[in-house]
Amino acid sequence: MNYSTHYSPGPDLLKDRVILVTGAGQGIGKTAALAYAQHGATVILLGRNQKRLDAVYDEIVNHGHPEPMALKLDLAQAGDDDFQGMAQAIFEQLGRLDGILHNAARFDGLSPLEYQSLDQWMGTLRVNLAAPVALTRACLPLLTRAPDSTVLLTSETHGHQPAAFWGAFAVSKWALEALVTIWAQELAVHPNLRMNVVIPGPVRAPQRLISHPAEDRKQLPESTRLMPLYLYLMGPDSRGHSGEIFEAQMS
Ligand SMILES: NC(=O)c1ccc[n+]([C@@H]2O[C@H](COP(=O)([O-])OP(=O)(O)OC[C@H]3O[C@@H](n4cnc5c(N)ncnc54)[C@H](OP(=O)(O)O)[C@@H]3O)[C@@H](O)[C@H]2O)c1
Repeated sequence: MNYSTHYSPGPDLLKDRVILVTGAGQGIGKTAALAYAQHGATVILLGRNQKRLDAVYDEIVNHGHPEPMALKLDLAQAGDDDFQGMAQAIFEQLGRLDGILHNAARFDGLSPLEYQSLDQWMGTLRVNLAAPVALTRACLPLLTRAPDSTVLLTSETHGHQPAAFWGAFAVSKWALEALVTIWAQELAVHPNLRMNVVIPGPVRAPQRLISHPAEDRKQLPESTRLMPLYLYLMGPDSRGHSGEIFEAQMS
């Protein structure tokens, strides 16, 4: 579904909610973490790079938003025990979890399938597809206990419409569409928990600079333009939508 990014969230849209954002150290993930904190959420910042996480942490605190929590975790290495430990730490330190934005992604650039190694495939599928499943699974007891909760997966245009040279990355994102259909059906017994996919479209953020290096960056919209949609999907106004794919339309 194409979804307009024109939505006006109230300033307290996410007040008292706890939201986990993966890949929160830069790009769209950082922008979303700041937007969620600005709207009242306590944000859990997950990423590999401690320096980047610390910088986002400081920015949130300096703006006077709820104090976030930083979690350094490599999604390419983490196993079920790590995700269970993470969920336990969230419960012990924050007592609840109301949403997850799965934003982290591995993207190695464009290349023909014949040049993509098994290790590259396994790494890409692990970060973009399997880690979101395992992380969500570990957090399900917290999410189903919350009065209104959301799991938001991030796809990409070429996951929706695969094309030559997008290889393992496109397949990993395409599989998220099957995943959301399956899981949203299974979660129907928990009407307080919804799961959807967002397709951001091109914005001025790191992945786009790798996929289209010759593009004029100034022509690209800022990732902040996506935030009305990201807030809508994370907040209570999207209640009733589950198993859906939302493609940002920035016109
Ligand atoms: N930019 C676009 O125009 C665009 C368009 C469509 C879809 N998207 C999607 O939007 C999302 C964000 O894209 P972006 O452009 O903002 O790219 P990005 O900055 O490269 O975002 C990727 C994030 O994922 C994290 N990450 C990668 N591998 C990880 C791992 N093994 N463990 C933990 N974290 C890991 C990175 O963390 P570190 O900081 O620790 O490296 C980084 O913060 C992605 O899912 C992408 O596919 C982007």
